[in-house]
Amino acid sequence: DKGPYEHFMLKEIYEQPLSIEDTFRGRISMDHSKIFLGGIIDVLPQITQANRIIILACGTSWHAGLVGEYLFEEFARIPVEVEYASEFRYRNPVINKDDVIIAISQSGETADTLAAIKMAKEQGATILGICNVAGSSIPRETHAGVYTHAGPEIGVASTKAFTSQVTVLTMMSMLLGKTRGFLSKEEYTHLVGELTQIPDKIRTILQADDEIKKISETYQHATNALYLGRGYLFPVALEGALKLKEISYIHAEGYPAAEMKHGPIALIDENMPVFVLATKDKSYEKIVSNIQEVKARNGKVIAIVTKGDEVIKKMADHVIEVPDCHEAVAPLLTVIPLQFISYHIAVMRGCNVDQPRNLAKSVTVE
Ligand code: M6R
Repeated sequence: DKGPYEHFMLKEIYEQPLSIEDTFRGRISMDHSKIFLGGIIDVLPQITQANRIIILACGTSWHAGLVGEYLFEEFARIPVEVEYASEFRYRNPVINKDDVIIAISQSGETADTLAAIKMAKEQGATILGICNVAGSSIPRETHAGVYTHAGPEIGVASTKAFTSQVTVLTMMSMLLGKTRGFLSKEEYTHLVGELTQIPDKIRTILQADDEIKKISETYQHATNALYLGRGYLFPVALEGALKLKEISYIHAEGYPAAEMKHGPIALIDENMPVFVLATKDKSYEKIVSNIQEVKARNGKVIAIVTKGDEVIKKMADHVIEVPDCHEAVAPLLTVIPLQFISYHIAVMRGCNVDQPRNLAKSVTVE
Protein backbone atom coordinates (compact mmCIF):
# COMPACT_ATOMS: atom_id res chain seq x y z
CA ASP A 1 0.00 0.00 0.00
CA LYS A 2 1.47 3.31 -1.10
CA GLY A 3 -0.65 5.32 1.35
CA PRO A 4 -0.77 8.99 0.35
CA TYR A 5 2.30 8.65 -1.86
CA GLU A 6 2.26 8.47 -5.63
CA HIS A 7 5.02 5.88 -5.75
CA PHE A 8 6.60 3.31 -3.46
CA MET A 9 9.95 4.99 -3.95
CA LEU A 10 8.66 8.26 -2.51
CA LYS A 11 6.99 6.43 0.37
CA GLU A 12 10.23 4.62 1.10
CA ILE A 13 12.26 7.85 1.00
CA TYR A 14 9.86 9.30 3.57
CA GLU A 15 9.99 6.18 5.72
CA GLN A 16 13.69 6.54 6.45
CA PRO A 17 13.47 8.16 9.88
CA LEU A 18 11.30 5.23 10.96
CA SER A 19 13.18 2.50 9.13
CA ILE A 20 16.44 3.66 10.72
CA GLU A 21 14.76 3.68 14.13
CA ASP A 22 13.68 0.11 13.41
CA THR A 23 17.30 -0.73 12.62
CA PHE A 24 18.31 0.69 16.02
CA ARG A 25 15.52 -0.91 17.99
CA GLY A 26 16.77 -2.95 20.94
CA ARG A 27 20.36 -2.47 19.82
CA ILE A 28 21.40 0.78 21.50
CA SER A 29 21.23 1.41 25.26
CA MET A 30 19.40 4.52 26.50
CA ASP A 31 22.60 6.14 27.75
CA HIS A 32 24.38 5.42 24.42
CA SER A 33 27.08 3.48 26.23
CA LYS A 34 26.28 0.13 24.60
CA ILE A 35 25.57 -1.27 21.18
CA PHE A 36 24.14 -4.75 21.23
CA LEU A 37 24.10 -6.81 18.03
CA GLY A 38 22.68 -10.17 19.09
CA GLY A 39 23.06 -11.75 15.66
CA ILE A 40 26.85 -11.57 15.69
CA ILE A 41 27.57 -12.04 19.39
CA ASP A 42 28.72 -15.64 18.94
CA VAL A 43 31.30 -14.69 16.33
CA LEU A 44 32.46 -11.45 17.97
CA PRO A 45 35.85 -12.98 18.89
CA GLN A 46 36.49 -13.94 15.24
CA ILE A 47 35.49 -10.48 14.01
CA THR A 48 37.51 -8.70 16.67
CA GLN A 49 40.62 -10.67 15.72
CA ALA A 50 40.03 -10.64 11.97
CA ASN A 51 43.08 -9.96 9.82
CA ARG A 52 40.86 -8.43 7.22
CA ILE A 53 37.22 -7.89 6.37
CA ILE A 54 36.00 -8.51 2.84
CA ILE A 55 32.67 -6.95 1.98
CA LEU A 56 30.78 -8.55 -0.92
CA ALA A 57 27.74 -6.98 -2.55
CA CYS A 58 26.23 -5.58 -5.75
CA GLY A 59 24.72 -2.24 -6.75
CA THR A 60 23.49 -0.01 -3.96
CA SER A 61 24.49 -2.58 -1.33
CA TRP A 62 28.03 -2.37 -2.69
CA HIS A 63 27.92 1.40 -2.15
CA ALA A 64 26.86 0.80 1.46
CA GLY A 65 29.84 -1.56 1.70
CA LEU A 66 32.19 1.22 0.58
CA VAL A 67 30.89 3.44 3.38
CA GLY A 68 31.59 0.45 5.65
CA GLU A 69 35.20 0.38 4.49
CA TYR A 70 35.78 3.97 5.65
CA LEU A 71 34.00 3.26 8.95
CA PHE A 72 35.77 -0.01 9.83
CA GLU A 73 39.19 1.34 8.97
CA GLU A 74 38.64 4.59 10.87
CA PHE A 75 37.09 3.22 14.05
CA ALA A 76 38.21 -0.41 14.28
CA ARG A 77 41.52 -0.23 12.34
CA ILE A 78 40.77 -3.46 10.47
CA PRO A 79 41.78 -3.52 6.78
CA VAL A 80 38.76 -3.81 4.51
CA GLU A 81 38.27 -4.79 0.90
CA VAL A 82 34.99 -4.09 -0.83
CA GLU A 83 34.35 -6.31 -3.80
CA TYR A 84 31.70 -6.69 -6.44
CA ALA A 85 30.42 -10.19 -5.71
CA SER A 86 30.34 -10.93 -9.45
CA GLU A 87 34.05 -10.20 -9.87
CA PHE A 88 35.14 -11.87 -6.65
CA ARG A 89 33.48 -15.18 -7.42
CA TYR A 90 34.95 -15.54 -10.89
CA ARG A 91 38.56 -14.79 -10.10
CA ASN A 92 40.75 -16.82 -7.82
CA PRO A 93 40.67 -14.64 -4.70
CA VAL A 94 42.97 -15.29 -1.76
CA ILE A 95 40.75 -16.19 1.18
CA ASN A 96 42.13 -17.12 4.60
CA LYS A 97 40.49 -18.77 7.57
CA ASP A 98 40.87 -15.63 9.64
CA ASP A 99 39.14 -13.44 7.07
CA VAL A 100 35.68 -12.21 7.89
CA ILE A 101 33.36 -11.84 4.92
CA ILE A 102 30.35 -9.55 5.14
CA ALA A 103 27.69 -10.03 2.45
CA ILE A 104 25.36 -7.06 2.13
CA SER A 105 22.05 -7.63 0.35
CA GLN A 106 18.61 -6.12 0.70
CA SER A 107 16.80 -9.06 -0.86
CA GLY A 108 19.15 -11.77 0.37
CA GLU A 109 18.61 -13.40 -3.03
CA THR A 110 21.18 -11.79 -5.31
CA ALA A 111 22.71 -14.70 -7.24
CA ASP A 112 26.26 -13.33 -7.46
CA THR A 113 26.43 -12.42 -3.78
CA LEU A 114 25.07 -15.81 -2.76
CA ALA A 115 27.55 -17.69 -4.97
CA ALA A 116 30.45 -15.56 -3.70
CA ILE A 117 29.76 -16.35 -0.04
CA LYS A 118 29.35 -20.05 -0.77
CA MET A 119 32.81 -20.01 -2.31
CA ALA A 120 34.35 -18.14 0.64
CA LYS A 121 32.62 -20.45 3.10
CA GLU A 122 34.16 -23.52 1.45
CA GLN A 123 37.56 -21.93 2.02
CA GLY A 124 36.99 -21.58 5.74
CA ALA A 125 36.23 -17.87 6.22
CA THR A 126 33.67 -16.59 8.70
CA ILE A 127 30.63 -15.36 6.77
CA LEU A 128 28.32 -12.64 8.03
CA GLY A 129 25.28 -11.15 6.39
CA ILE A 130 23.63 -7.75 6.50
CA CYS A 131 20.28 -8.44 4.89
CA ASN A 132 16.79 -7.05 4.95
CA VAL A 133 14.57 -9.97 4.01
CA ALA A 134 14.41 -12.41 6.91
CA GLY A 135 14.87 -16.07 6.03
CA SER A 136 16.10 -15.33 2.50
CA SER A 137 18.87 -17.37 0.88
CA ILE A 138 21.92 -15.32 1.93
CA PRO A 139 21.15 -15.24 5.68
CA ARG A 140 20.56 -18.99 5.51
CA GLU A 141 24.05 -19.48 4.12
CA THR A 142 25.90 -17.26 6.63
CA HIS A 143 27.36 -18.14 10.05
CA ALA A 144 25.88 -15.04 11.66
CA GLY A 145 24.48 -11.66 10.72
CA VAL A 146 22.49 -8.58 11.45
CA TYR A 147 19.12 -7.91 9.88
CA THR A 148 18.47 -4.34 8.79
CA HIS A 149 14.75 -4.45 9.72
CA ALA A 150 13.97 -1.68 7.22
CA GLY A 151 10.65 -3.30 6.28
CA PRO A 152 9.67 -4.38 2.77
CA GLU A 153 11.26 -2.31 0.02
CA ILE A 154 9.07 -2.39 -3.10
CA GLY A 155 10.58 0.31 -5.35
CA VAL A 156 13.29 -1.15 -7.56
CA ALA A 157 15.53 1.79 -6.65
CA SER A 158 16.90 1.04 -3.23
CA THR A 159 16.51 3.88 -0.71
CA LYS A 160 15.63 2.89 2.84
CA ALA A 161 17.53 -0.39 2.54
CA PHE A 162 20.69 1.61 1.85
CA THR A 163 20.35 3.86 4.90
CA SER A 164 19.59 0.86 7.10
CA GLN A 165 22.61 -1.03 5.77
CA VAL A 166 24.82 1.97 6.49
CA THR A 167 23.28 2.22 9.96
CA VAL A 168 24.18 -1.42 10.70
CA LEU A 169 27.71 -0.94 9.38
CA THR A 170 28.11 2.17 11.54
CA MET A 171 26.95 0.31 14.64
CA MET A 172 29.24 -2.64 13.86
CA SER A 173 32.29 -0.44 13.27
CA MET A 174 31.76 1.43 16.53
CA LEU A 175 31.22 -1.77 18.47
CA LEU A 176 34.43 -3.23 17.02
CA GLY A 177 36.30 0.01 17.58
CA LYS A 178 35.43 -0.10 21.25
CA THR A 179 36.13 -3.82 21.64
CA ARG A 180 39.50 -3.46 19.92
CA GLY A 181 40.40 -0.45 22.05
CA PHE A 182 40.58 2.17 19.32
CA LEU A 183 37.60 4.17 20.53
CA SER A 184 37.57 5.56 24.06
CA LYS A 185 34.40 5.30 26.09
CA GLU A 186 33.76 9.00 25.56
CA GLU A 187 34.30 8.91 21.78
CA TYR A 188 32.11 5.86 21.50
CA THR A 189 29.25 7.36 23.51
CA HIS A 190 29.52 10.58 21.52
CA LEU A 191 29.40 8.73 18.18
CA VAL A 192 26.46 6.60 19.26
CA GLY A 193 24.67 9.84 20.21
CA GLU A 194 25.42 11.27 16.75
CA LEU A 195 23.94 8.17 15.14
CA THR A 196 20.75 8.27 17.20
CA GLN A 197 20.14 11.89 16.14
CA ILE A 198 20.03 10.88 12.47
CA PRO A 199 16.28 10.09 12.20
CA ASP A 200 15.33 13.57 13.46
CA LYS A 201 17.86 15.20 11.19
CA ILE A 202 16.42 13.27 8.22
CA ARG A 203 12.96 14.59 9.22
CA THR A 204 14.33 18.11 8.74
CA ILE A 205 15.65 17.24 5.26
CA LEU A 206 12.31 15.69 4.26
CA GLN A 207 10.72 19.11 4.85
CA ALA A 208 12.83 20.50 2.01
CA ASP A 209 11.15 18.16 -0.50
CA ASP A 210 9.35 20.99 -2.38
CA GLU A 211 12.46 23.09 -2.56
CA ILE A 212 14.45 20.10 -3.87
CA LYS A 213 11.71 19.42 -6.41
CA LYS A 214 12.09 23.01 -7.74
CA ILE A 215 15.82 22.56 -8.11
CA SER A 216 15.25 19.22 -9.86
CA GLU A 217 13.02 20.96 -12.45
CA THR A 218 16.01 22.94 -13.70
CA TYR A 219 17.86 19.74 -14.57
CA GLN A 220 15.08 17.50 -15.85
CA HIS A 221 16.32 17.73 -19.46
CA ALA A 222 19.95 17.02 -18.68
CA THR A 223 21.56 14.22 -20.67
CA ASN A 224 24.53 13.77 -18.37
CA ALA A 225 25.40 14.47 -14.75
CA LEU A 226 28.40 14.20 -12.48
CA TYR A 227 28.37 13.44 -8.76
CA LEU A 228 31.39 14.28 -6.65
CA GLY A 229 32.28 13.51 -3.06
CA ARG A 230 35.32 12.77 -0.90
CA GLY A 231 35.91 10.39 2.00
CA TYR A 232 32.71 9.04 3.51
CA LEU A 233 30.78 10.91 0.82
CA PHE A 234 32.50 9.38 -2.19
CA PRO A 235 30.26 6.28 -2.00
CA VAL A 236 27.27 8.63 -1.69
CA ALA A 237 28.31 10.24 -4.99
CA LEU A 238 28.28 6.78 -6.61
CA GLU A 239 24.89 6.07 -5.10
CA GLY A 240 23.45 9.41 -6.30
CA ALA A 241 24.62 8.67 -9.83
CA LEU A 242 23.19 5.14 -9.79
CA LYS A 243 19.82 6.43 -8.58
CA LEU A 244 19.64 8.98 -11.41
CA LYS A 245 20.69 6.42 -14.04
CA GLU A 246 18.33 3.67 -13.05
CA ILE A 247 15.10 5.61 -12.71
CA SER A 248 15.45 8.67 -14.95
CA TYR A 249 17.71 7.14 -17.63
CA ILE A 250 20.09 10.10 -17.52
CA HIS A 251 23.70 9.12 -17.90
CA ALA A 252 25.45 9.91 -14.62
CA GLU A 253 28.86 9.21 -13.13
CA GLY A 254 29.99 9.33 -9.54
CA TYR A 255 33.62 10.21 -8.83
CA PRO A 256 35.88 10.87 -5.88
CA ALA A 257 36.15 14.65 -6.30
CA ALA A 258 39.94 14.62 -6.55
CA GLU A 259 39.79 12.28 -9.55
CA MET A 260 37.93 14.90 -11.58
CA LYS A 261 41.18 16.41 -12.80
CA HIS A 262 42.32 13.03 -14.11
CA GLY A 263 39.70 12.88 -16.84
CA PRO A 264 36.08 13.78 -16.17
CA ILE A 265 36.88 17.50 -15.98
CA ALA A 266 37.01 17.39 -19.79
CA LEU A 267 33.25 16.80 -19.81
CA ILE A 268 32.38 19.96 -17.94
CA ASP A 269 30.61 22.74 -19.82
CA GLU A 270 27.53 24.90 -19.25
CA ASN A 271 25.25 21.91 -19.84
CA MET A 272 26.74 19.68 -17.19
CA PRO A 273 25.05 19.54 -13.78
CA VAL A 274 27.56 18.60 -11.09
CA PHE A 275 26.15 17.44 -7.76
CA VAL A 276 28.74 18.02 -5.07
CA LEU A 277 28.63 16.55 -1.57
CA ALA A 278 30.22 19.38 0.35
CA THR A 279 29.33 19.18 4.03
CA LYS A 280 31.73 20.44 6.69
CA ASP A 281 34.30 17.71 7.32
CA LYS A 282 38.04 17.32 7.09
CA SER A 283 38.06 17.64 3.30
CA TYR A 284 35.85 20.74 3.22
CA GLU A 285 38.53 23.12 1.91
CA LYS A 286 39.41 20.66 -0.82
CA ILE A 287 35.83 20.21 -1.96
CA VAL A 288 35.46 24.00 -2.09
CA SER A 289 38.37 24.10 -4.57
CA ASN A 290 36.71 21.34 -6.59
CA ILE A 291 33.58 23.48 -6.81
CA GLN A 292 35.69 26.41 -8.02
CA GLU A 293 37.21 24.18 -10.70
CA VAL A 294 33.75 23.24 -11.95
CA LYS A 295 32.53 26.86 -11.90
CA ALA A 296 35.63 28.02 -13.78
CA ARG A 297 34.45 25.77 -16.64
CA ASN A 298 30.85 27.01 -16.44
CA GLY A 299 29.47 23.76 -15.04
CA LYS A 300 26.29 23.96 -12.97
CA VAL A 301 26.91 23.18 -9.32
CA ILE A 302 24.25 21.79 -7.03
CA ALA A 303 25.92 21.46 -3.64
CA ILE A 304 24.73 19.53 -0.61
CA VAL A 305 26.05 21.62 2.28
CA THR A 306 25.95 21.88 6.05
CA LYS A 307 23.23 24.23 7.25
CA GLY A 308 24.46 27.79 7.46
CA ASP A 309 27.29 27.39 4.93
CA GLU A 310 27.73 30.86 3.38
CA VAL A 311 30.92 30.18 1.43
CA ILE A 312 29.54 27.59 -0.98
CA LYS A 313 26.23 29.43 -1.30
CA LYS A 314 28.11 32.24 -3.06
CA MET A 315 29.73 29.85 -5.54
CA ALA A 316 27.11 27.22 -6.31
CA ASP A 317 24.06 27.54 -8.57
CA HIS A 318 21.95 25.78 -5.94
CA VAL A 319 22.56 24.61 -2.41
CA ILE A 320 20.61 22.07 -0.41
CA GLU A 321 21.23 22.21 3.32
CA VAL A 322 21.48 19.27 5.69
CA PRO A 323 21.86 19.53 9.48
CA ASP A 324 25.34 19.56 11.00
CA CYS A 325 26.59 16.09 12.05
CA HIS A 326 29.73 14.03 12.66
CA GLU A 327 31.35 13.25 9.30
CA ALA A 328 31.05 9.49 9.83
CA VAL A 329 27.25 9.67 9.81
CA ALA A 330 27.01 12.24 7.00
CA PRO A 331 26.23 9.58 4.31
CA LEU A 332 22.92 8.95 6.06
CA LEU A 333 21.90 12.59 5.64
CA THR A 334 23.47 13.60 2.34
CA VAL A 335 22.01 10.68 0.37
CA ILE A 336 18.44 11.86 1.06
CA PRO A 337 18.48 14.95 -1.23
CA LEU A 338 20.04 12.81 -3.98
CA GLN A 339 17.23 10.26 -3.68
CA PHE A 340 14.69 13.09 -3.96
CA ILE A 341 16.41 14.60 -6.99
CA SER A 342 16.37 11.31 -8.93
CA TYR A 343 12.79 10.69 -7.93
CA HIS A 344 11.53 14.11 -9.03
CA ILE A 345 13.49 14.15 -12.27
CA ALA A 346 12.23 10.66 -13.15
CA VAL A 347 8.61 11.68 -12.49
CA MET A 348 9.04 14.85 -14.58
CA ARG A 349 10.43 12.77 -17.44
CA GLY A 350 7.45 10.43 -17.27
CA CYS A 351 9.51 7.39 -16.26
CA ASN A 352 8.13 4.37 -14.47
CA VAL A 353 9.74 5.15 -11.13
CA ASP A 354 8.94 1.98 -9.22
CA GLN A 355 9.67 -0.37 -12.09
CA PRO A 356 12.32 1.08 -14.35
CA ARG A 357 12.90 -0.59 -17.70
CA ASN A 358 15.21 -3.61 -17.86
CA LEU A 359 15.51 -3.88 -14.05
CA ALA A 360 14.18 -6.31 -11.46
CA LYS A 361 14.01 -5.83 -7.71
CA SER A 362 16.24 -8.76 -7.07
CA VAL A 363 18.73 -10.06 -9.54
CA THR A 364 18.57 -13.84 -9.18
CA VAL A 365 20.42 -14.51 -12.41
CA GLU A 366 24.18 -14.30 -12.58
O1 M6R B 1 19.08 -7.18 -2.96
P1 M6R B 1 20.49 -6.68 -3.11
O2 M6R B 1 20.82 -5.62 -2.11
O3 M6R B 1 21.50 -7.79 -3.10
O4 M6R B 1 20.53 -6.02 -4.54
C1 M6R B 1 21.71 -5.51 -5.09
C2 M6R B 1 21.42 -4.66 -6.30
O5 M6R B 1 20.81 -5.41 -7.30
C3 M6R B 1 20.56 -3.45 -5.98
O6 M6R B 1 21.09 -2.67 -4.95
C4 M6R B 1 20.36 -2.56 -7.21
O7 M6R B 1 21.56 -1.96 -7.59
C5 M6R B 1 19.27 -1.52 -6.95
N1 M6R B 1 18.37 -1.45 -8.06
C6 M6R B 1 19.82 -0.15 -6.71
O8 M6R B 1 18.85 0.82 -6.51
